Amino acid sequence: MSLTINIYYTGINGSAKKFAQEMITKGIVDQVRNEEGNKRYEYFFPENDPETVLLIDCWENQEALDFHHQSPMMEEIAKLREKYQLRMKVEQYVSYSKDNQDFETVIRNRTATRKFKDKKVEEEKLMKILEAGRLAPTAKNLQPQKIYVVRSEEALKKIDEVSPCRYNAPVVLMVCSDKNIAWTKDDYSTYEMDACIVATHMMLEATNVGVDNIWIEMFDKQKLKTQFNLPENIEPVCLIPLGYQDDDYKGNPLHHVRKELKETVEFI
Ligand SMILES: Cc1cc2nc3c(=O)[nH]c(=O)nc-3n(C[C@H](O)[C@H](O)[C@H](O)COP(=O)(O)O)c2cc1C
Repeated sequence: MSLTINIYYTGINGSAKKFAQEMITKGIVDQVRNEEGNKRYEYFFPENDPETVLLIDCWENQEALDFHHQSPMMEEIAKLREKYQLRMKVEQYVSYSKDNQDFETVIRNRTATRKFKDKKVEEEKLMKILEAGRLAPTAKNLQPQKIYVVRSEEALKKIDEVSPCRYNAPVVLMVCSDKNIAWTKDDYSTYEMDACIVATHMMLEATNVGVDNIWIEMFDKQKLKTQFNLPENIEPVCLIPLGYQDDDYKGNPLHHVRKELKETVEFI
């Protein structure tokens, strides 16, 4: 288990940024990072809100966090916050162990991994991931997906030539869709939608079996088609690198940044 706290500091006339700057130059940030059990203490500056800074701090367990809250630094931090007259919104998240996860934990634990270690994905796990894709729903049950499991050195090299986002993963699922098979009406086709559902099933199953992953959109589709000699009707939709997070990967800072339900849901 680990604890992640997102603290949004909001002020006026750039005061939140100045606060973060002073926290850094005064050495408070480094001191917190050196505290026992601290995994992350980092500021982010949301592009869409120049008056807010986001502090992400992550702790190994509740004990470490409690200890931090009692440290003399907390007083200094509070004084600085007052000096800059900042409003604060705090959100706390718990990340659970990757063993024996229930569905709720799987969807909470799934996160983008951007640094993989040199460890292979076990065949049995890989087959479970592919099977989860096989069971995905598709329009009219036409199952237009075509999944290429890219894992030879030569093929991985080709992936690196079309995308900067393999992140050293030992396996990449190249999720494609057959436009000739997918349900089509006039100029509308569900080929992409079907493949996305298949890909989502596979990502969640990967998390379920403890295999880290990420969804990649950033790749040159045309170049990929040429590199792998794909037929005209086979359309690449996304890449899913699979593997195990590198030990020094701190996690995706955006993982817990989610809109409130009321911003994206309306009951009518
Ligand atoms: C459709 C889609 C496209 C994405 N493309 C990329 C990409 O090309 N490169 C990358 O590093 N991350 C990519 N991501 C990962 C997202 O940035 C990430 O899922 C998002 O920040 C939420 O974080 P989380 O997955 O850790 O919860 C993509 C995710 C989705 C769903």
